[in-house]
Amino acid sequence: MNFESLLKTYQSQIDRALEHWLPTDVEPPSILHQAMRYAVLGPGKRIRPVLVYATGQIFDTALSHLDSSAVAVELIHAYSLVHDDLPAMDNDDLRRGRPTCHRKFDEATAILAGDALQALAFRVLACDTPLLCDAQCRIRMLEVLAHASGSRGMAGGQAIDLAAVGQRLTLAELENMHTHKTGALIRASAKLGFLASGQTSADFEARLDLYAHNIGLAFQIHDDILDVEGATETIGKPQGSDQLRDKPTYPNLLGMEPAKAIARRLCDEAIAALDCFGRSADSLRWVAKFIVNRDR
Ligand code: IPE
Ligand code: IPE
Ligand code: MG
Ligand code: MG
Ligand code: MG
Repeated sequence: MNFESLLKTYQSQIDRALEHWLPTDVEPPSILHQAMRYAVLGPGKRIRPVLVYATGQIFDTALSHLDSSAVAVELIHAYSLVHDDLPAMDNDDLRRGRPTCHRKFDEATAILAGDALQALAFRVLACDTPLLCDAQCRIRMLEVLAHASGSRGMAGGQAIDLAAVGQRLTLAELENMHTHKTGALIRASAKLGFLASGQTSADFEARLDLYAHNIGLAFQIHDDILDVEGATETIGKPQGSDQLRDKPTYPNLLGMEPAKAIARRLCDEAIAALDCFGRSADSLRWVAKFIVNRDR
């Protein structure tokens, strides 16, 4: 199977699973549920669920055993986007080619939708039945997702991002911001795919973590690049948002070509970390290349 069709398979798998777990929009409070569905079911790339499934594929894990991990991480991601777009944060009006959640609904509803999506993510991991691993492993998975989402992960990275507006960061500081705000959830995706597959090898876990660390940073560098070079209609969000808000980014600190070279090097290093898995990790290799070549 080529990567395009695999991507489609994974994307329809996650869309079904998300639909299964999201409240319907007729269930009260209807507006809140509509806003949650709007934030999640828009045309995202679903790259974090794809990572969960592609990691599971190394160990021949059935997709149904991976669904809850994929759903949980995508719900956290969707919540992070809703809050990221709020006026108090990036103040953006366009997301996934549509009005942002607070524009479509209102700010209070968008805040609550984010809160509720976050809570739902943990509920899904806590009570999903087709999980392969035992209760202890499930607790570890909850801990992995909590750590990646919180002040030592995504939320912490977002705090660094807000404090960095108008500042000139060192490369190390910028890398730290990116690995937290974006890298943490991407790392969690691979880790959850590994744990949901009932795997325990510390060596495999470390190699997957190195892979995910590298593509997580590359993902945000490429996002910074698209903010400059992408077209609003393609990226589905306002081009030039970072520059408008004076955000430190890789292209801005280093220049466009060095930023691209770093993203490519991270992709190569990520792929090298997968050597021990042979062909079973081909999907993850594709994902790494996709991350630094995508146009949205
Ligand atoms: C955008 O993430 C926010 C970042 C962490 C850079 P994605 O580019 O994965 O957004 P969607 O889910 O495809 O819309
Ligand atoms: C977002 O970074 C990171 C998140 C945790 C949501 P950006 O602010 O660059 O993401 P976009 O460009 O708005 O998607
Ligand atoms: Mg932001
Ligand atoms: Mg933003
Ligand atoms: Mg961005």
